[in-house]
Order: sequence, then structure tokens, then C-alpha cells
Amino acid sequence: MDATIVILDGDGIGPEVTAEAKKVLAAVAGRFGHDFVFDHQQIGGRSIDELGTSLPDETVEAASAAEAVLLGAVGGPKWDDPSLSDRPEQGVLALRKSLDLFANLRPVKLQPQLLSASTIKEETLEGVDLLVVRELTGGIYFGERKEPEDNFEAFDTMLYTRPEIDRVVRLAADSAMDRNRRLASVDKANVLASSRLWRSVATEALADYPELEVEHILVDAMAMHLIRRPADFDVVVAGNLFGDILTDEASMLAGSMGMLPSASLGDVSNRHDLPLGLYEPIHGSAPDIAGRGIANPLAAILSSAMLLRHSLGLEKEAEAVEAAVDAILDLGVRTPDIAQPGTETAGTEVLGNLVVQELSDS
Ligand code: NAD
Ligand code: IPM
Ligand code: MN
Repeated sequence: MDATIVILDGDGIGPEVTAEAKKVLAAVAGRFGHDFVFDHQQIGGRSIDELGTSLPDETVEAASAAEAVLLGAVGGPKWDDPSLSDRPEQGVLALRKSLDLFANLRPVKLQPQLLSASTIKEETLEGVDLLVVRELTGGIYFGERKEPEDNFEAFDTMLYTRPEIDRVVRLAADSAMDRNRRLASVDKANVLASSRLWRSVATEALADYPELEVEHILVDAMAMHLIRRPADFDVVVAGNLFGDILTDEASMLAGSMGMLPSASLGDVSNRHDLPLGLYEPIHGSAPDIAGRGIANPLAAILSSAMLLRHSLGLEKEAEAVEAAVDAILDLGVRTPDIAQPGTETAGTEVLGNLVVQELSDS
């Protein structure tokens, strides 16, 4: 297959981890006889510095024309000044919105080799394998807001419409039908009007899925259930902000932020009639470790596996990448975030090279 993949390195550890994911995609192309063209474009803080905007038009055009987009992460202390009119994060939000990528799939799967890497008890983690579907183009991220210009008053509006809720809940329900047929819908319906709409639209939509076991859970309780009984969950659907927070929490079920990939999908198709998607680790630019070559590249590499699966329809290739990640964890090589007693600590590049080697050898 021939495909164009736009690569957006971003800031901090973004370029470090996407470099490894790109190597892995190139290795997949070599092994399986595909022709991938990598088109590097700008986004985020570096783009503000060099081009004066967090999201150049050229990036949106290239992304729209491509089969898929692989993003590292954006942001950092350099661009945190609240008086700046553009922020690196706005680039990511605007890209998601302009491509209408309303469903952010965040699988949380614990690799058995990492059972003891988590701060949570092993018996609680046994069997953790869930998928969080986070609504990505609505909610409080995109509602009306007032900046604190007067340093006195500011607001953000959590706004949802029926179609926005309906489409993401149905996508989550379809995913649950292909998995273990359990769906938890998360809201704050005891307080928020937008959540009461969420719950009512979700209940109506889910009536079309009688085979599913459905729970509606308040977000504060969900934060607790995720730690108390994580293995009970199959698919979890949540609004933009709740899904963001719950998945950073859930990353600790998998051992580290550096392990969680994501795929953002919508209704737009690419040239091959598959969904155009944006693939990114759930983590950020990690300024505390940027430039040291120790970031875990596996979330980015696993995001490239999701890219192969969802936007290129290359299931066998996606599984080969996932198997290679599994194999290098078996080798006992770890970046510091997932280090365990008795394992060998290595850097970003070493892990990426090992995955490439596994792919080429197997
Ligand atoms: P972060 O995810 O960057 O880091 C949180 C913690 O996790 C840090 O201690 C970091 O070292 C660690 N960590 C994250 N990824 C890791 C990896 N691959 N390997 C090892 N350790 C890893 O979150 P933050 O510090 O709150 O945010 C930093 C910046 O990133 C902010 O500007 C934020 O807006 C931005 N951000 C961007 C994205 C994105 O571009 N999609 C996502 C989240 C945060
Ligand atoms: C994420 C990040 C982003 C979000 C930021 C950087 C805009 O935290 O992808 O999880 O909140 O969506
Ligand atoms: Mn986040």
C-alpha cells in the first residue's frame, strides 16, 4: 500500500518519541512491502517561534490530504506565559477540530511484564484491559470562554449538543459490541446540565444496544472505581474534560504515561476510504525529562500500531508492532519510567531500535 503519513514532532519529548515511531513505521514498510511517505509539518511551540502560529494552514492542508497524522506532543514552560495570545496546545485543539476528530480512543492495556511497575497492587491490576472513548471536539474545551483579562473574572462553558453526544456514545457502544459488551458512560449528571443531557441522550442511544451491559457512573466515583476495580471495565465513554483526566489516571494502571497510545477518529475518510486519523500518545511534552533521551517511546510506537490498524487497514502489521513491543518488554529492557528490579535501564533510542530489530527478525 502507498500512504502519506504526516508527522508532527511538536515540542519537548515529542520529537524524541516520534522519531522512534517513524523508524518503526519505516521498518513495517520494509518488511511488508509498503510505500510510506513521511511528510514533516509544524505544530505547537516551535511553530509559534518559527512561523508565528501554533497551527500553520499548511499543516492542516497536509493533514487533510494525508492518510494519517502522527503527533508527538506540544507545549512547555517557554510558552506558558498567560499573556500570550497563542499557545502550543491551541494548535492541537484546532487540528482535532478542523479534522472533526470527535472520538479519541485510548486503550488501557496492562502488559503482564509491567505488573510490578505500577504503584497499584498487582492483584488489583490483574486483567486490566479497557478502552476509554473520549469525546474530543466539544464540551468545555470548545464552549464560550472569557479570559481573565481583568484578573478578576473568567469562565469556560461546558456545552454539548444531542448529535455530539449521540455519535460518540454510539461509536463507544459499537466498540463494546466488538469487545466484552460492557459500557460505562461517565458524567456529572447530579450537578451539570450538560451532563444531564449527556445521560439522557446516552440512555436513548443505548436502548439500541440491548446486548450491552450499561452503567452510568458519576465522574468523581469513576475516579475511585478505576483504581478500586479497574479490571471490571470494558469500554468507558466520557466527555472531553472527564476523559482527559480519567485517562491520565488510568495510565497508572498500565505502569506509565509512556505506555498509553491514542487514536482520534471522525467521519472523514482518507484516499483509501478508511478513517483519517490523528495518532498521539496521551502524554505531553514532559519538560522535566526532555532532551535527556530517556522518554519512553512505546506510547508513540503503539500509536503507530493504531495508525496502521485504523487509517491504513493493516491489521497484520499493527499486530506485528504490538508483538514487537511485547517481545522487547520480555527482554527486560526498560526506560526509567517503567524500570523494575532486575531489568536493564535504557534510553528512548535503544528501545526504538530494539522494536525495529524485533520487527525485522521475526
Ligand atoms: P506530561 O504528560 O508531559 O508529563 C507528566 C509526567 O509524566 C512527567 O513527570 C513526565 O516526565 C512523565 N512522562 C510523560 N510522558 C512520558 C514518557 N513518554 N516517558 C516517560 N515519562 C513520561 O504532562 P505535563 O507535565 O502536565 O505537561 C507538560 C506539557 O505537555 C504541558 O505544556 C501540556 O500542556 C502539554 N501536553 C501536551 C499534550 C499533547 O500535545 N497531546 C498532552 C498532554 C500535555
Ligand atoms: C491530551 C492533552 C491535551 C488535551 C492538551 C495538550 C490540549 O492533555 O491530549 O490529553 O487536554 O486534550
Ligand atoms: Mn491530557
